[in-house]
Amino acid sequence: MSQRTLVLLKPDAVRRGLTGEIISRIERKADWRITALDMRTLDTGTLELHYGEHQGKPFYEPLVTFMSSGPVVAMIVEGERVVEGVRALAGPTDPIAAAPGSIRGDFGVIVRENLIHASDSEESAERELKIFFPGRD
Ligand code: PPS
Repeated sequence: MSQRTLVLLKPDAVRRGLTGEIISRIERKADWRITALDMRTLDTGTLELHYGEHQGKPFYEPLVTFMSSGPVVAMIVEGERVVEGVRALAGPTDPIAAAPGSIRGDFGVIVRENLIHASDSEESAERELKIFFPGRD
């Protein structure tokens, strides 16, 4: 089933020069396509919309501060089972719990600086794509 998802390469991935490596892992999956891509610095308003469901959680303020601390790479990725698939490539939120071979397992240590965001469901993907790529229906 072809799907689309929002992928953000977080400021730590950009600062550490890992965007090419991560994009390459996504591109090499059979059938997946990157159909939009740009580098941008996120403002607080965009992040409040994106992470609104987490407002009030202890990690919320540090997460918003981190996500606005430098440019991110924002992408639309399309293809077969891409929502579940990019999250599998990324590994779990805590990089220490992520298996070697996954993006977070290979490159991450700190929970906040976990390199990549990928939508967690098709519904989230459509909501998030409206925020980051309005008009790309
Ligand atoms: S929850 O509460 O289970 O829904 O949270 P989770 O889905 O694991 O994470 C939601 C987003 O918050 C980020 N996160 C954190 N950031 C900083 N510090 C801590 N401790 C932390 N815990 C979770 C997590 O990476 C998710 O952001 P995205 O952009 O989706 O990766």
